[in-house]
Amino acid sequence: MEVTNKLKSLVSRLETGIDRHVPAPETRPSQLHQAMRYSLEAGGKRLRPALLLAVAELDPKPNAPDPLPAAVAIECLHTYSLIHDDLPCMDDDDLRRGRATVHRQFDEATALLAGDSLLTHAFALLAKAYADNPTLSHALIRELSHAAGSQRLIGGQMEDLLGEAKGDATAEDLDYIHLNKTAAMIETALVMGGMVAGWSNEQLTTLRSAGRDLGLAFQIVDDILDVTADTATLGKTVGKDEATEKTTYVRLHGIETSRTMVADRTKAVIAAFASLPGDTTFLEKLAQMMANRVN
Ligand code: IPE
Ligand code: IPE
Ligand code: MG
Ligand code: MG
Ligand code: MG
Repeated sequence: MEVTNKLKSLVSRLETGIDRHVPAPETRPSQLHQAMRYSLEAGGKRLRPALLLAVAELDPKPNAPDPLPAAVAIECLHTYSLIHDDLPCMDDDDLRRGRATVHRQFDEATALLAGDSLLTHAFALLAKAYADNPTLSHALIRELSHAAGSQRLIGGQMEDLLGEAKGDATAEDLDYIHLNKTAAMIETALVMGGMVAGWSNEQLTTLRSAGRDLGLAFQIVDDILDVTADTATLGKTVGKDEATEKTTYVRLHGIETSRTMVADRTKAVIAAFASLPGDTTFLEKLAQMMANRVN
């Protein structure tokens, strides 16, 4: 199957999973459940769940469980991080995934609570959906909670804001920020896919290191697009990083060097994917697509 069709089919599987595994909008309190779904259903590229699902189907052990709940969990967690990232006390953004941000569409308190609920729901889902396999359920919860925690995603977000306030982040600080605020979740998407498939620790290590490169490249592209894309294509307001004098790859290294860094990391990712069992064509092409993306 061609790469865009394959991606479309994974995204549509994920969206069915969201509908099945997230409380219906009319569930009381409906304002909260509507806000959770408003953001989840706005779309987004769904790259983390697509990576998870694609790894899970490369070479699953016999009787490996359905990876879909894990894919929904990671999208819930990612979406929470975006809702909070957009809040006035963080990046103060009005547009996300081509729609008004949750705090603009509803209000700030609802956005805060919708984010809290999506974060909590991710773990509830992993506990419930994999209850028949407590070892797997425990491993997934441990993996995702670490990636989303104070020394990874949230730690990266903290240093991102501190660096913005001081305006003096170094290249080493910037690597810490990117590695944690963004690469952690991309690494974890790949690793969780491998865990559901029953892969060995050695294979999970390969996935983690590929995810680190893929995640760093992904955030460098995000920084480039903030400068080069237009708001309509991106679905979020462009020029924000420059307006807030944020330290980004583009600011520290320039666009050309940033592009070279993306190309180098992507090459390493493709080589790592090619070393995995099963047919890795889709994953290799997806990594290239992520490097060339325009939104
Ligand atoms: C945005 O992530 C935040 C970053 C880590 C750069 P995505 O670019 O994957 O956002 P969606 O999910 O497609 O909206
Ligand atoms: C990544 O950083 C945000 C998260 C990890 C949630 P950005 O602040 O650059 O993300 P965008 O550009 O708002 O999507
Ligand atoms: Mg931010
Ligand atoms: Mg932001
Ligand atoms: Mg950005």
